[in-house]
Amino acid sequence: MEYSEKVLDHFMKPRNMGEIPDADASGTVGNPICGDIMKMDLKIEDNIIVDAKFKTFGCGSAIATSSMATELIIGKSTDEALDITNQAVAEALDGLPKVKMHCSVLAEQAVKKALEQYYLDHDMMTPERKDKFKILGQDQHHHE
Ligand code: FES
Repeated sequence: MEYSEKVLDHFMKPRNMGEIPDADASGTVGNPICGDIMKMDLKIEDNIIVDAKFKTFGCGSAIATSSMATELIIGKSTDEALDITNQAVAEALDGLPKVKMHCSVLAEQAVKKALEQYYLDHDMMTPERKDKFKILGQDQHHHE
C-alpha cells in the first residue's frame, strides 16, 4: 500500500492534536467499519473557526486526515468548513489508498458533528445547512 509523503508527515507529526478545554463545540464520531473514534473540538468567534484540536483513537490515515482537516478549517467560517468534504481532505494529503478512503470520512463527520452542535446551540440551523449534515447519518460506502 502506497502512502503519500503528506499522509506520512501528518501521521508522524500530527498538527493540532489535543483538546480545547473551553471549546465552543465538540463532535465525537465512530467509524462503524473499524471501530475507530475521533473527537473534534472547535473554538469559534463570530462564526469563524479560530482553533481546532482533535483526538483520534484510530489508524494512521484517520490521524493524518484529522490533522489535515484541522489545518483546512482553522481560519474559515463555519459555513465554509461545512463544505469541506472527505475527498477534499484526502486531496489535500495528495490522496489516500482507495481502501483507506473510509478513514477520511471520519474527519469530515467529526467536523460536521461539532458544527451541528454549534448551529443548534446558537439557533442557526437552517434547512440548507441541515441538508449538509446528511453524512452524519449515512454509512461509509457512499463516500469512497
Ligand atoms: S481503519 Fe479505522 S479509521 Fe482507518
